[in-house]
Amino acid sequence: MAKIPQTMAIIMDGNGRWAKARNLPRTMGHKKGADRVRDVALEANRKGVQKLILYAFSTENWKRPEDEVSYLCKLPGMFFNKFIQELMDNNIRVTFAGELEKFPESTQEVIMKAINQTSTNTGMELCLAINYGGQREIQLGIQKYAAQVAAGLRKNDLSIDEFSRYLFVPESIDLMIRTSGETRISNFLLWQLAYAEMIFTPTAWPDFDEAALDECLQEYEHRHRRYGGLDDED
Ligand code: IPE
Ligand code: IPE
Ligand code: MG
Repeated sequence: MAKIPQTMAIIMDGNGRWAKARNLPRTMGHKKGADRVRDVALEANRKGVQKLILYAFSTENWKRPEDEVSYLCKLPGMFFNKFIQELMDNNIRVTFAGELEKFPESTQEVIMKAINQTSTNTGMELCLAINYGGQREIQLGIQKYAAQVAAGLRKNDLSIDEFSRYLFVPESIDLMIRTSGETRISNFLLWQLAYAEMIFTPTAWPDFDEAALDECLQEYEHRHRRYGGLDDED
């Protein structure tokens, strides 16, 4: 039987460069990229992935020009309008990781609506990392824990597993993919990637289709994970 990552995370990068190469505005790259979210989520669900975390907007992406940020804020609405029915038909549950409050209310509303509408689905969890930053996530986790200790609600005896539960994403990641050729993490899931397998592909996100995902899943099957130890093959 195929070895499938239970938890998979993707840095969906290269929308802007994809558009520029076609003499299109960067926003057209984001638009095409949103269609790929649908393709890749459905394929991951078909393959048996349990949780797919997609990096859609980082805590650093606010630095971009206002018109690009404003387009990115409209994208969740456009995405769910087009695809919510298919997500329902495929039993996919939508969640998010990050701080939603910084987005316009209309953006928050469409995301919360999709989360509520899909909340009883039992298939793959599709987690959108939006206004997400790994350092911020750890900072918030520490603050929450420290406040509980200060209030006398718990002892200063935190285990690694327990700390994970103070984060937006408590699971560790099996496979992380970054598209478009950059070989860095860009503040994504710093804690959860501790023993993740990583694939960096030159394919731009708007070109990353079902076949491209299948190739990554095949490569993952051949990875030999040791977690610092030794196993039968060593
Ligand atoms: C990823 O594509 C989407 C977001 C970061 C929101 P980019 O917009 O970073 O595309 P490039 O990297 O500039 O090509
Ligand atoms: C990472 O891509 C963030 C998302 C894909 C949402 P960036 O394009 O923002 O990362 P850098 O700036 O190249 O590191
Ligand atoms: Mg980029």
